[in-house]
Amino acid sequence: KKIAVLLGGTSAEREVSLASGTAVARALTTLQLPHIEFDTAKRQLHELVEEGVSHAFIMLHGRGGEDGTVQGALEFMEIPYTGTGVLGSALCMDKVRTKQIWQALGLPTAGYQEVRRPLELAEAKACLEQLSGQVMVKPSHEGSSIGMAKVDTAEDLVKAVATALLIDDSVLIESYINGPEYTVAILGDKALPSIKMATPNAFYDYEAKYQNSTTEYFCPSGLSAEQEVILGDLCIAAFNAASAKGWGRVDVMQNEQGEFILLEVNTVPGMTEKSLVPKAAAQAGLDFTQLVATIIQQAFQ
Ligand code: DAL
Ligand code: MG
Repeated sequence: KKIAVLLGGTSAEREVSLASGTAVARALTTLQLPHIEFDTAKRQLHELVEEGVSHAFIMLHGRGGEDGTVQGALEFMEIPYTGTGVLGSALCMDKVRTKQIWQALGLPTAGYQEVRRPLELAEAKACLEQLSGQVMVKPSHEGSSIGMAKVDTAEDLVKAVATALLIDDSVLIESYINGPEYTVAILGDKALPSIKMATPNAFYDYEAKYQNSTTEYFCPSGLSAEQEVILGDLCIAAFNAASAKGWGRVDVMQNEQGEFILLEVNTVPGMTEKSLVPKAAAQAGLDFTQLVATIIQQAFQ
């Protein structure tokens, strides 16, 4: 067995992926599993065959890695890989399409509009009214909060949509949920203990995720045992509905009524020092190396 850790890539989350992939490669060294680090921005995928690679550990975040394209190429090359397949990867990389699946199945997600062109001021006003006054603007196919904004005026909404359209052809405008953010890591068919995030920033943005030390993480998250089960079951249902597989992370907000509202599924969640899945695994008694070993067992059994 020779494993290629696919990392880097060309997406806006390249730096995060390099950190995640390097950490995974270190764990493979500890596990004494033969492996190479393979930056898909620097090398052609067919070189995996020349390298004698038998398995791939996908640690690419964002487009061109987490979105089904690399998964499809690996299927074609008959190289088994970790995590979600082609369909689920493509679906989960599209926040709007994911929400549509959840809505169809009656799973809770915030009200939204999708736009594919700049908004006129009057359209922005109408949109804000319809979505209860305060919204999150998100490029539909991006990660790590890149290109996101929280806005409550029509002028700012026009600007935020224009900014998001610079990096994506589809923009999600979603009702803002005024409550804490939770995340649930999924490993195999089980939910790991939830984590609650608190940040002094306007929302859990790129800076809060990777660059500051003011973000607080609560794991255990402080939910009652009953609420923890409700949240875990919801996240497993959301993960399965979106055709995700093996491992991943479901992000959720809790509204003022205490209801959990689904945001998105990350099929290749961060594995950096600051990342959430390793924190949840630690709470479940798995250190980073054991977490990596479990992901591999799930995928290559
Ligand atoms: N998109 C980043 C890597 C995450 O979900 O952790
Ligand atoms: Mg994400």
